[in-house]
Amino acid sequence: MIYQTGYLRMCGIFGIITNQDIPIGQIALEGIKRLEYRGYDSCGIVAQYDSQLFIKKDAGKIDEINERLKLFDFPLESKLALAHTRWATHGPPTKVNSHPHLDCSRKIAVIHNGILENFLELKEQLELEGHKFLSDTDTEVIPHLIERYIRQGIDFTQAVIKAINKCVGAYGVVICHADHPDMIIAVRKESPLVIGIEEGKTTYCASDIPAFLPYTRMCYILEDNEMAILKAGSVKFLNITNPDEPLEKELNKIEWSIDAAEKGGYKHFMLKEIYEEPLALRQTMKIPRSKLQTFAKILWSAKNIYITAAGTSFYASLAGKHIVTKFLGKYIHAIECSEFQIELGDALQEDSVIICVSQSGETIDLIEAVRWAKEKLKKKITLLCITNVVGSSLTRYSDETIVTQAGPEIGVAATKTYCTQVLTLALIALEIARYRKVLNEQEINNYYEALKSTPDIIEDYLKNKVSNIKDIVNNLDKSSNFFYLARGISIATAKEGGLKLKEVACRFIEGYSAAHAKHGPISLVREGFPIIFIAPPDETYQRLVGNVMEFKARGGKIISVVVDSDKIITNLSDRTIRIPQPANKYYNIISPITFIPALQLLSYYAALKNNLDPDQPRNLAKTVTVH
Ligand code: G6P
Repeated sequence: MIYQTGYLRMCGIFGIITNQDIPIGQIALEGIKRLEYRGYDSCGIVAQYDSQLFIKKDAGKIDEINERLKLFDFPLESKLALAHTRWATHGPPTKVNSHPHLDCSRKIAVIHNGILENFLELKEQLELEGHKFLSDTDTEVIPHLIERYIRQGIDFTQAVIKAINKCVGAYGVVICHADHPDMIIAVRKESPLVIGIEEGKTTYCASDIPAFLPYTRMCYILEDNEMAILKAGSVKFLNITNPDEPLEKELNKIEWSIDAAEKGGYKHFMLKEIYEEPLALRQTMKIPRSKLQTFAKILWSAKNIYITAAGTSFYASLAGKHIVTKFLGKYIHAIECSEFQIELGDALQEDSVIICVSQSGETIDLIEAVRWAKEKLKKKITLLCITNVVGSSLTRYSDETIVTQAGPEIGVAATKTYCTQVLTLALIALEIARYRKVLNEQEINNYYEALKSTPDIIEDYLKNKVSNIKDIVNNLDKSSNFFYLARGISIATAKEGGLKLKEVACRFIEGYSAAHAKHGPISLVREGFPIIFIAPPDETYQRLVGNVMEFKARGGKIISVVVDSDKIITNLSDRTIRIPQPANKYYNIISPITFIPALQLLSYYAALKNNLDPDQPRNLAKTVTVH
C-alpha cells in the first residue's frame, strides 16, 4: 500500500442531469444532505453552464457551508451538477482537498468515493508531463489522467475508460466535462453507486438510493467495473473491461418510502431508529422460513463455523452465536473481521462455513476477509451473509444471503439493525433446533413465541417505561468513566451498550465480563463509580448477584437492567431499568434484543447532555470502506 493512513474516507456522491427547468443546485444539495451519514467533514458542488464549470466547495458541515456559500444557488439554465460530501483520507479536510477536483484546463470535474492505491505513482508521471496539482488527494489524478488522453485526441468517454483502467483501488467515480453538457459518466469498482431515472426527464446517480428517492423509485445498481453514461432521462451501460459490448441492466423499483430515510418528526435519526425497532423486528420475523432452513442445514453439516463482523455487527454476532450454539451443539468461532486472515491463516480449512454479519454489506475489512477466504479455498468454503442492504458488495461474494428488514439506517450509531441481526440469528437457531430435533415442538413454539413478542416488549418499554432513563443520565457524573458488566449471553449486551455510549456520548466505558472484571478492572472502583449490570434471570444470575455485591462493597453505584419481576439484584441496586418481560428460559434468550433499547436511549440522552450530536459522532462514519 502506498497511501498514507490516518484519515478515513467514506464520502457520499450525487449527480444530476436534466432537460427540465428544475433547481439542480438545490436538488444536489438535498441529495448530499441525505448522504451526510457517509462523511461530513467537507463538501462541494459543481454545475455546468455557459460552457464552463462553476464550483462551490469548502471544509465543514454541509449546513454551515451552505450558509456561507449558498451551495444551492445556480441558474436554471444549468442542467447538470455533481455534489460530494467528504470524509478525509488523503490530506486533511480543507477547501482544496474538498471535491469536486478539476484538471488543468478546469473543464473536467470529478467526485470520488474510495481509495486509489497507485495515485502517488500516477501523480509523479502526470507532474513530469506538466500537470499541476492543487490538493493532497488521490482523487485529483483522475481529472488529470482524463485530460492527458483528451489532449492525445481521444474522445471524452474513451478517455475516461483509459484513465479508469490506469487506476488501482476502490472507486465510485462520477465525472462531467464543460464541453459535454449532455452527459455525466459514472464508474464503479468496490464503492457503491446507484442510478435513478425519471424516464425522458432527469437522471441521477448517488452512493445510496435515499439521495434521489424523493424524485424517483426506479433505479439501476451499478456493479464492479461497470460504467453508466447518464443523459437527461436516459442511461447507457457498459463494462469497462469490455467497452464495445453494450450492457443490459435490470431496472429495479424501490418499495420503501423516503419517510423511512428521513427523520419523521424525531429530533435525531438515532432516536427515530430506536423507536423503529418494534417495526424492524416485526418485519424481520417475516424472513421466509425457507431461507432460515437453508442457513440451518448448511450450519448443521459444516465442519468448522466462523462468525465475523465489525463494530455493532460483531456484538450482534456474539449474542447470536450464543443462541445458535445452544441448539447447534457445535462451537462457533467469533473473530473480528479485521483479524480474520491474520488469526486463521493456514488454519482455515475446507468445508468451513463463515457467517458474515454487516448492516451495510460494504465494510472493507469484512469484504477483504471474505475475499481472502474465497481465494484461499476456492469453492470449498461456504459464505453465509446477513446484511441490511440488498445488492451490497458482501451479497455478491456470499453463497446464501439473508436480508434483515430494518429498512435504511441513517444514524451513524447502529441501533435497529443490531436488534434485527440478533433476531435473525435466533430464528436460524430455532430452525436448527427443529432440524436436529433437540427440542420438542412445544418448546420450539415457546421459544418462537418469545422471539415473536420482542417487538411488543420493546414497544411497551418505549411507550411506558423510559421516563427514568433521563433521570439516570442526569445523575451520572458528567466526567466519570464506568463499566457495563454481565455474564453469559449478556456480555454481548454489555459490550454493545458500552460501545453506544462511547460512540455518541464520548465517555470512556468498558463493556466487560462481570466475572473477569475481578482480575484488574475492579481496582478502578471508588465511592460513587457507576457500574451498569445487565441482569436477566438466566443461569448466570446467582453468580452475577455475587459480582454485584463485590462492586457494591467497594462503593460502586449500581444501576441494573432487569426484568420487571426482579427482586434480588433490584434490592442491591441504586437504580434499575426494568424491562417488561416474563422471567423464564424462553424469554432469557431474547434479552440481547429486549434489553438493548434502554442502553441505546441512555447513550442518546447522555450525548444530548454533553451537547453532542448523536447522529454525527466525532471521528466516526457509518460505513467504513477503507482499512
Ligand atoms: C462502523 C460504524 C458502526 C458499525 C461498523 C460495522 O464502524 O460506525 O456503527 O457497527 O462500522 O458496520 P457494518 O455496516 O459492517 O455493520
